[in-house]
Amino acid sequence: MKIKDCKAIVTGGASGLGGACVKKLVEGGGRAAILDLDAARGEKLAAESGGSLIFVRTDVVGEQDVLSAIAKAVEAFGAINTVINCAGVGDPGKVLSKKGPLPLAAFERIVRINLVGTFNVTRLAVAQMVNNSYNDEGERGVIINTASVAAFDGQIGQAAYAASKAAIAGMTLPIARECAAYAIRVMTIAPGIFDTPLLASLPEAARDALGKMAPFPSRLGRPDEFAALVGHILENSMLNGEVIRLDGALRMAPK
Ligand SMILES: NC(=O)c1ccc[n+]([C@@H]2O[C@H](COP(=O)([O-])OP(=O)(O)OC[C@H]3O[C@@H](n4cnc5c(N)ncnc54)[C@H](O)[C@@H]3O)[C@@H](O)[C@H]2O)c1
Repeated sequence: MKIKDCKAIVTGGASGLGGACVKKLVEGGGRAAILDLDAARGEKLAAESGGSLIFVRTDVVGEQDVLSAIAKAVEAFGAINTVINCAGVGDPGKVLSKKGPLPLAAFERIVRINLVGTFNVTRLAVAQMVNNSYNDEGERGVIINTASVAAFDGQIGQAAYAASKAAIAGMTLPIARECAAYAIRVMTIAPGIFDTPLLASLPEAARDALGKMAPFPSRLGRPDEFAALVGHILENSMLNGEVIRLDGALRMAPK
C-alpha cells in the first residue's frame, strides 16, 4: 500500500500517535478521515490540510457513528483502503484500593473503548474494504491497530488497560487469517512510552523518569517514530498477522 494511495480512516487521529499518522499520510500524498471525539482539534487539523483531511466526530464504540464516518470518508475519497486504530484511553485503577474494589463500570469502560471500539471499526471497515479493487500488490486494504507494551507487562493498576491491549494483540492473528481471503492485512503495534498529550499532564521530571526506563534509547518515543512504523507496515506487504513492540527494549516494572 503506497502512502500516496492511502484513503484512510484514523481513529484517535486528532491527537498524539493518531495525529502523527495523519500527518505522515498527508505529507506522503495520502488522504485521511479523522474519527475522534475531539471536534475542536479534529476540525482544526482538517481545516488546515488543504482538503487532504476530513474530520468526522465519531465515538468508536458507536455502530451508527462509525458507519456514518466510513460513508463520509467513501464519499470524500471514493473508497477507504487503510484503517489506523489509535483511539484509546488508559485511566489506571487497582483491583482493590482504599475506596474498595474497582467498580466494574470502570473496568468495562476501558475494555469497551480500547477493545470493542477497535473491533467495531475493524468489522465495519472490512465490510467496506471488500468492495475495493486490488492494488499492484494484490491488496484491498491494510488495518493497523494500537496495543501497548502493557499487553505483555502491564503494571499494577493496569488490569483493565492491559486486558484491553492484550486482547487487541490476541485478535490480530485470527482477524488477519480471516481477512487474508479478502486481501486485507492486519497488524498491531505495541508502543512503549511515547510523548503524547496522554503524558502532557505529568511534570517534566516524571516524564524524564518514564523515558529513562527504556534501556536504549533512554527517552520517550516520538510520535513520528510511531508514524514511521505505520508507514513501513503500509508499504511492506509481507507484514501481516503480527504484533510489533516499538519500545527501545522497555520492559515495564510492576509499578
Ligand atoms: N502515549 C503512549 O505512551 C502510549 C503507549 C502505548 C499505547 N498507547 C496507545 O496509543 C493510542 C493513542 O494514544 P495517545 O498517546 O496518542 O493518546 P491521546 O490521548 O493523545 O489520543 C487519543 C485520542 O483518542 C480519542 N478518543 C478517545 N476515546 C475515543 C472514542 N471513544 N472514540 C473516538 N476517539 C476517542 C481522544 O479524543 C484522543 O484524540 C491509545 O490507544 C493508547 O492506549 C499510547
